[in-house]
Amino acid sequence: MDMSNTRHPVNLALIGFMGTGKTSVGRLVAEQLHFQYLDTDETIQLLTNRSIADIFSKDGEPAFRALEKNLVEELAAQTKTVISTGGGLPAHSANLESLKAHALVVCLWASPEKIWERVKNQTHRPLLHDADPQKKIRELLAAREPFYRQADVLVNTDIRSVREVVQQVVHQFRLESSSR
Ligand code: S3P
Repeated sequence: MDMSNTRHPVNLALIGFMGTGKTSVGRLVAEQLHFQYLDTDETIQLLTNRSIADIFSKDGEPAFRALEKNLVEELAAQTKTVISTGGGLPAHSANLESLKAHALVVCLWASPEKIWERVKNQTHRPLLHDADPQKKIRELLAAREPFYRQADVLVNTDIRSVREVVQQVVHQFRLESSSR
């Protein structure tokens, strides 16, 4: 783990591609740490009273990214919160830097094959409404990999159950808290 001594993360942020389990893992991690749980997609939907799909189709992706950026700036005021982020959020360096200032950033990693297995029966993600969604997953994942790799901790979810991933994430956060 690459944590400088000057950092004191009070929150835990989960980043990673669609279908890596950020929501299910995040909720369980929050329970175990007795933290609040906040999902950036859910929060944007609550604040705008619109679905992500509606924002993408009527206003376009850049409008959605601007909403994400504004929300990330506000998250700096949170404490004791598990923040689960939309898959594209850390692909903007300013967002990642902002999260790192107050959160231990954990990336949930999965192979394109596993991701496809997990998302193929879901319809709510506009970026996967594509003629060739498997190719889209491979392309987006390759483009985002350099950002995901900047996380403090990388957890491979291909080889672990949700329960094991949760244990791993909680363990890493406790290690970090006790090493201060
Ligand atoms: C996106 C991922 C989605 C949501 C939006 C865009 C992305 O979140 O933010 O559809 O760019 O990868 P999940 O990662 O929670 O599916």
